[in-house]
Parts: sequence; C-alpha cells; structure tokens
Amino acid sequence: MHRFLAAAALIFLCVAAQAAAPPRPAKLGLCAACHGVDGHSHVAGTPHLAGQDETYLINALAAYRDGSRKAVPMNSIANTLQPRDIAALARWYSQQPAARAPMAKP
Ligand code: HEC
Repeated sequence: MHRFLAAAALIFLCVAAQAAAPPRPAKLGLCAACHGVDGHSHVAGTPHLAGQDETYLINALAAYRDGSRKAVPMNSIANTLQPRDIAALARWYSQQPAARAPMAKP
C-alpha cells in the first residue's frame, strides 16, 4: 500500500512538473539566435516572445507560414515548421517568464 502511494505521488509530481515546464521544442535552435531560448530578444527590431499568449503565437506563426502576414525573415523560417512545431514553440515561449527589459533599441 505504501509503495502504491509512493508511486502514485511520484507520478503526480512528474505530471505536475511537466505541466509547469513544457518540453524543449526540437526546433527551438532555429529561433534562439534572434528571440532567445527564453524568449527575451537582444536583437533590435525583434520582439520578445516570453509570456506572450499561446494562441496569439500560434496564429502569428501560422500567418507567417501561409504568407498572410509578411515579414523578413519570419516567412522563410515559418515555412520550415510543421503545425506540431508551431504548437510546441508557442507553448514553450508562452510559458517563459515575461520580458524584464524593453526591446533593444535599433
Ligand atoms: C533572424 C532572426 C529571427 C529568427 C531566427 C526568428 N525570428 Fe521570429 N521574428 C523576427 C523578427 C525581426 C520579427 C518581427 C517581424 C514582424 O515585423 O512581423 C519576428 C517575429 C516573430 C513573431 C511575431 C511576434 C509578435 O509579437 O507578433 C513570432 C511569434 C516569432 N517571430 C516566432 C519565431 C519562432 C518560433 C522562431 C523559430 C522557429 C523565430 N521566430 C525565428 C526575427 C527572427
């Protein structure tokens, strides 16, 4: 019985930890140079993504991908993403703590 409870507690903790920290997306390396791993941009003209609404990020990436939103370099980058990549990246960036500093000045 005790073993069962310990196992149940362990499973609960793993699930809770996963909910708090989404898995690192496979394509994060494509974004980090400009938006940062944590979504805090250090590049002038490049927006912070940390803490942004998840649905907004999904919609923005889908719009870059289908060309209805046009911006260099996001159209060509979004073209390399599958819908599951977009979902994973939007989840990741939306879960990062929001930006501490204003965007870098151009
Ligand atoms: C070479 C630099 C660069 C890389 C690499 C890059 N981005 Fe961007 N990203 C930008 C710039 C510049 C903009 C602003 C474009 C605009 O004006 O619409 C932008 C805009 C965005 C936006 C819209 C934000 C908003 O507030 O509307 C999202 C979402 C985004 N990028 C996600 C990503 C993701 C996810 C990746 C990796 C797959 C990525 N970007 C890779 C430079 C980059």
